[in-house]
Amino acid sequence: MTKTPDPAARIAALRQQLDEASYRYYVLDAPTIPDAEYDRLLRELEQLEAAHPQLVSPDSPTQRVGAPAGSHFAQVRHAIPMLSLGNAFDDAEVLDFVRRIGDRLGRERLIFSAEPKLDGLAVSLRYEHGRFVQGATRGDGFTGEDVTANLRTVKAIPLKLRGSGWPDVLEVRGEVYMPRAAFEAYNQQARLHGGKVLANPRNGAAGSLRQLDARITAQRPLAFFAYGVGQVEGGALPDRHSQVLRQLRQWGLPVSDLTKVVEGAEGLLAYYRQIGARRDTLPFDIDGVVYKLDDVQGQREMGFVSRAPRWALAHKYPAQEQSTTVEAIQIQIGRSGAATPVARLAPVQVAGVTVTNATLHNADQIKRLDVRVGDAVIVRRAGDVIPEVVGVILERRPKGTTPWQMPRHCPVCGSDIVREEGAAVWRCSGELSCPAQRKEAIGHFVSRRAMDVDGLGEKFIEVLVDAGVVQGVADLYRLDLDLLLQLRLVTSAQTPEGFLRAAREHLASGAYSTLEATVARICGKAGAVPDTWQAELLRAGLPAFDWNRKKIASKWAQNLIAALDKSKHTTLERFLFALGIEHVGESTAKALAAWFGDLALIRTLPWPLFKRVPDIGGEVARALGSFFAQAGNQQAIDALLQRGVVIGDTHPPSALLRQGLDLATLLVDLEIPRLTRIRAESLVKALPEVDDILQAGPEALVGAGLPQDTAAALIQWLREDDHAQLLQAAGAALKQLDAITPQQATGQAGPLSGQTVVLTGSLEAMTREQAGAKLEALGAKVTGSVSKKTSFVVAGAEAGSKLTKARELGIEVWDEARLLEFLAGQRA
Ligand code: IVH
Repeated sequence: MTKTPDPAARIAALRQQLDEASYRYYVLDAPTIPDAEYDRLLRELEQLEAAHPQLVSPDSPTQRVGAPAGSHFAQVRHAIPMLSLGNAFDDAEVLDFVRRIGDRLGRERLIFSAEPKLDGLAVSLRYEHGRFVQGATRGDGFTGEDVTANLRTVKAIPLKLRGSGWPDVLEVRGEVYMPRAAFEAYNQQARLHGGKVLANPRNGAAGSLRQLDARITAQRPLAFFAYGVGQVEGGALPDRHSQVLRQLRQWGLPVSDLTKVVEGAEGLLAYYRQIGARRDTLPFDIDGVVYKLDDVQGQREMGFVSRAPRWALAHKYPAQEQSTTVEAIQIQIGRSGAATPVARLAPVQVAGVTVTNATLHNADQIKRLDVRVGDAVIVRRAGDVIPEVVGVILERRPKGTTPWQMPRHCPVCGSDIVREEGAAVWRCSGELSCPAQRKEAIGHFVSRRAMDVDGLGEKFIEVLVDAGVVQGVADLYRLDLDLLLQLRLVTSAQTPEGFLRAAREHLASGAYSTLEATVARICGKAGAVPDTWQAELLRAGLPAFDWNRKKIASKWAQNLIAALDKSKHTTLERFLFALGIEHVGESTAKALAAWFGDLALIRTLPWPLFKRVPDIGGEVARALGSFFAQAGNQQAIDALLQRGVVIGDTHPPSALLRQGLDLATLLVDLEIPRLTRIRAESLVKALPEVDDILQAGPEALVGAGLPQDTAAALIQWLREDDHAQLLQAAGAALKQLDAITPQQATGQAGPLSGQTVVLTGSLEAMTREQAGAKLEALGAKVTGSVSKKTSFVVAGAEAGSKLTKARELGIEVWDEARLLEFLAGQRA
């Protein structure tokens, strides 16, 4: 604890600093101090308050932790009722709304405040003399529940207003909501650990606020924005709604920056479309926009009908949730064999898109929701996430349904579907013998950011795999024009007769008779044509066609061959990414390429060496090791190289690698029980060679400075599995790396050499310029605009169009935490 002569003064200073930081973070969206610094100040304040309990005050930033449960919420009567809004679902209703106001007020020019309608929970925050004294839910509009303790934990809600000039009593009305990313992250954790999954962010916000134990609320990532006021006493507010919002913002309340002043019906409708176009990329759910007559005097003149103001209107977007029925539950096999259950649905429009499939995430999720075939369910589609089933409407469950069970065998290849101990995911154990996994792997291999083969779509890959023409990725480079044209001829035919008719034009009569016979054999005498006739025919083999007899469209095939040829000249990072190694995304592939530079080297490295690359931890390193340890994968790489794949940017390892090329680091990377860094260093001092360690008995190890139990653990470890061999191989690789790694960085070479980075939004821990300088020092080129060439984008708070563009282009986005982690790794 900091020594301070005057705790009261220090406490006041700390509170002021912390409040300022919150304001910059939540209201201005322009943070100035890093989270860690905030936490440090908060801890200091906590300690001071603990030592001087008489100085604790309810509006101290320390009072946001929540308190244990009470038994119920007290009722709060709203001095001014919390109204609801009339709804419009189409343009005509908006025109009516504007006309009614114009007629009644006898005005032609009408100015409105247009705002997003966030989907959360309405609350009223009561400030007395600038202090937050009470918060309530809307309830029935007249009486709500006192959720003050819970609202105190919402960091975006100021406990004390900033500045001055606030009315003695000020009720701020607004919406508590859960940002989408926070909702997704929360649910992902819940799914992983079998916790309760939230149906949607709205439920997340409502459920969190209605927790009797505010400590639970404190853990939920809630946010708030203000959209109006209730009771105001002992002071006045501006006479335009937009200015009221601006004033609230100055007093420290978050106001949505999507809020805009517009004129007339055209202005409103244009706003509706602008926001609608951005709806999917906003960080929160909105269910519409709200129009409010800006002039407060005009509002008074307009008054109310029943419980809604005549001066305001909610213009709704298509709902993000709809109900429909589950026609089937099937499983989909992903690239790594993950079996994801998918609900096939009766088609339904959700937020403007027809949805026929929705993910059920995993078997646990189905069990939790108890989704059954035949059930009426609620599907949700929000933003660019895949539509999902969020709940079952039990009252509409038909009779005779049964709980769903994960099939025991892969529907595609018949291999067992298995699940690792404790894991949520079931997998098809067929690996690349499973056509589904093979198709996914090939699709990934040719994708734009991998080998970038233009013109090879999902459908055609399906044909290639089903026909047995392409078994592995290397087979792609064996495709020739003849084969492609034959494939197309077979797959574009609806019936065997149709195929024969088309084939006849390209065949001499002898060859045609042979083909006819093959077709007849496949179709059998009974006349029932098997669904698989095309695949069977391709497997049976076709005669050589003479395409010159009759012209056939072949441009597409020539283009595809050309695209395949072009893709052969590639870069190391693309190639590594294309291999589809588990956990190896683009950024890991990029880092591997930058650090090691050479496929021939990488494919032989024992897994611990991969940990020398910042950002690569044990799990990823092991995945790399086990990929390269499989003979089939090595063969596939050989085949690719044989068929002409050339990696054009091979280079020596980065000089930065030198920093970790010692035996002690290797021993630590091997994750040997009890062997800490200090112990490893002392061990290596006495026993500098791998062989010394392998031959050392317990006394020698203890003599080298290891505690008894550590020595025993090391010996035990070396006996297990093939650890001794691993240590030997890794030791040899270390020597090899040491021999080929240059002594010093040449020019700007670094782990980010060749990469173009864009920084956007505001960072907390440093300025963008500082971050840019650090990235440049590591070899990156930092530019101002996002394009296809951008390697990744670092997006801080309030990132706007650049982030949107990056997402559109599918460019990798790092948040600040990721950047800091990466930079920290570089310093190590
Ligand atoms: S104004 C007198 N503005 O929508 C006007 N409401 O049906 C009272 N909402 O429960 C509401 N965003 O929680 C207003 N920008 C916004 C809003 C908004 C969301 C919610 C509000 C209320 C419901 C109105």
